[in-house]
Amino acid sequence: MSRFANPSPYGTHRVIEPRGVLPQAAWKIDNTMEPAANEILIDVRTLNIDSASFTQIKQEVGAEPAAIAAKVLDIVRQRGKMHNPVTGSGGMLIGSVRTVGAALRGRIDLTPGDRIATLVSLSLTPLQIERIKTVHVERDQIDIDGRAILFETGLYAKLPADIPETTALAILDVAGAPAQTARLVHAGDTVVVIGGGGKSGTLCVYEAKKRAGPTGCVIGVSPFAADCERMRALGWADHALQVDARDALALMRSVAELTGGRLADVTINCVNIANTEMGSILATREGGRIYFFSMATSFTAAALGAEGVGKDVEMIVGNGYARGHAEHALNLLRESPALRRLFEELYA
Ligand SMILES: NC(=O)c1ccc[n+]([C@@H]2O[C@H](COP(=O)([O-])OP(=O)(O)OC[C@H]3O[C@@H](n4cnc5c(N)ncnc54)[C@H](OP(=O)(O)O)[C@@H]3O)[C@@H](O)[C@H]2O)c1
Repeated sequence: MSRFANPSPYGTHRVIEPRGVLPQAAWKIDNTMEPAANEILIDVRTLNIDSASFTQIKQEVGAEPAAIAAKVLDIVRQRGKMHNPVTGSGGMLIGSVRTVGAALRGRIDLTPGDRIATLVSLSLTPLQIERIKTVHVERDQIDIDGRAILFETGLYAKLPADIPETTALAILDVAGAPAQTARLVHAGDTVVVIGGGGKSGTLCVYEAKKRAGPTGCVIGVSPFAADCERMRALGWADHALQVDARDALALMRSVAELTGGRLADVTINCVNIANTEMGSILATREGGRIYFFSMATSFTAAALGAEGVGKDVEMIVGNGYARGHAEHALNLLRESPALRRLFEELYA
């Protein structure tokens, strides 16, 4: 008999404080690894820490693996989940199914031993870390011995056989970004991808070029020369702008120069740092659309900032989920050998 009577499909039975909220909003959740009848218990192999969170932790404690490991252990010990208290973001994990709760058996396509990636945030996932094995500072991933719980409504993807596990983990972490880009970008559009040299940014640049086509124009933005060179070499960005997105006026001027003053029809924000809302707004034309995928986005800064400069733009919160997003993202690697090579070099 499980300690959880009448477990909720959303996991509210595990909320410790404050009472009455959902697990993502909770400060602390119950991470005892005794699954309720409607939960899935996972043996965790690797955590993929959300880039905004990992960047913030490095800024706070430095880039030494031992310091990062100590910080992650401390957060999980306090909160029962890897929920960064500063950025509010999480990440996701890969592992193997250990137990499928009795109430789910036969209702879902999982059996013990299946290798899966969770597609819900670590910021709501009960997690216990027994041991941190390796901190991969260069790719925001941490190998652990540990266990996690997936709630009844938790999304997951079975890991594909044809793509290395850690590459799939990296791609699935940001799978919502290219899927939303596919919805937003139309033939002939001018698209600005801020943070276009990063993980989600690269996928968005690729997807945007596919959708905007030869009559469209895709502009990748990064403050770093190496990122810009790589964007140019990959060939999906029509232009790579070396600008710091925190310098809103510089970004606007550069985009205006490239577009004859028209600015972007669609701007996709994929950065891992704060204070890029105004750059996104000023780089976008009146009536254009901005997709804030970045978890470092401030809703207040975006809303009041747009109002403050009298810009009527549609701003979209970066919902990390879009139906079919996992398969969509993995298929991008299958269709583009160049994309696959790049991601395997960086994350395999
Ligand atoms: N909405 C969701 O569900 C969801 C899911 C996962 C991730 N995210 C968020 O999406 C964002 C991107 O994630 P990711 O994994 O793609 O991160 P990433 O690979 O670290 O990419 C971020 C990129 O932004 C660049 N950048 C840094 N400072 C910049 C600046 N001042 N101007 C322009 N570009 C700058 C980074 O360059 P360097 O790396 O060279 O510094 C990097 O290339 C993060 O905020 C992450 O938290 C959201």
